[in-house]
Amino acid sequence: MKKEIDSLLAANTNTNTDTERSFQRSVVLSEAKNAFVLNSSWTQHGPSHWLQVEKNAVMLGEHTPGCDMEVARLFALLHDCRRQNEGRDPDHGARAADFAQELFDKGMLRLDPGRLAVLKYAMTHHNNGQVSDDPTIGICWDADRLDLPRVGTAPNISLMSNQYAKKWLRLHSAKTFRG
Ligand SMILES: [Fe+2]
Ligand SMILES: [Fe+2]
Repeated sequence: MKKEIDSLLAANTNTNTDTERSFQRSVVLSEAKNAFVLNSSWTQHGPSHWLQVEKNAVMLGEHTPGCDMEVARLFALLHDCRRQNEGRDPDHGARAADFAQELFDKGMLRLDPGRLAVLKYAMTHHNNGQVSDDPTIGICWDADRLDLPRVGTAPNISLMSNQYAKKWLRLHSAKTFRG
């Protein structure tokens, strides 16, 4: 099973286009926005954050062999879309994973079971303070944490999974990350 997931991850080198092999970005983004219940004009966990996480994931992916960029970008677009408040919401990752399963069941995510499992795992545990040596899961979590300056928090280098993310943090001030 692990070998199967590894070969699927290694085979995937998709680029930043609207129509992906495994999902249509505009459709997934629209579904996520429709599911989002917080006020999108002032939320710190809404679409502007999702798009920054996606950019971060693409940046990290360019320096990370073997990562599944489609899964990482799906994570970015979906991981916070089921938040129910702006503060403590420990189950929002699990709800996002359930939402991904719903999109899969509707035929909107063309992922095999291994890739869907990676996506759901990354979403379920993204807010549990973990690191991962899986290249795709590591990119998902690091891309999210690199956007912590939006809420006035500097990313913690010891909670970075990805080597390039660690290098990047050493070279850049967290305060200037979003430019
Ligand atoms: Fe989150
Ligand atoms: Fe997030």
